Amino acid sequence: MSNLEQTLSIIKPDAVERNLENEIKEMFKHKGFSIIKEKKIQIEKSEAERFYKVHETKPFYNDLCAYLSSGPIVVMVLEKDNAVSGNRELMGATNPNDAAEGTIRKKFGISIDKNSVHGSDSIENAKIEINFFFKD
Ligand code: CMP
Repeated sequence: MSNLEQTLSIIKPDAVERNLENEIKEMFKHKGFSIIKEKKIQIEKSEAERFYKVHETKPFYNDLCAYLSSGPIVVMVLEKDNAVSGNRELMGATNPNDAAEGTIRKKFGISIDKNSVHGSDSIENAKIEINFFFKD
């Protein structure tokens, strides 16, 4: 039975800066994701703080928000069956050192902060995150 889902993906500043946008999009397409919506933007630190509010008590919160707002990012809505878990699998572990071969973070991630991509961690958060960037 099909289980079509959408999830939010962000190509982070470290990857945009190294011109990896197209290579990363090709990895998504190769795995069967459709890119339904996309835009390249730079956000304010205050917007990053709202986006990452779930992490506000974490010691890395300030650096994380400063980083996400430090340069252009590409935000995308990805769609396919089981898109949320499929995207997490394709991204690999948060820390590129722990990420499996063939994943985006293994291939392109530099560090736990500069880990090249963000993806929604649940169906519920995917809806919230898509609405955050693409409310029409
Ligand atoms: P992301 O999937 O965008 O979600 C939150 C981000 O916080 C995560 O990727 C990492 O880039 C960053 N981060 C920095 N330090 C940590 C940490 N110790 N644990 C988890 N995430 C971290």
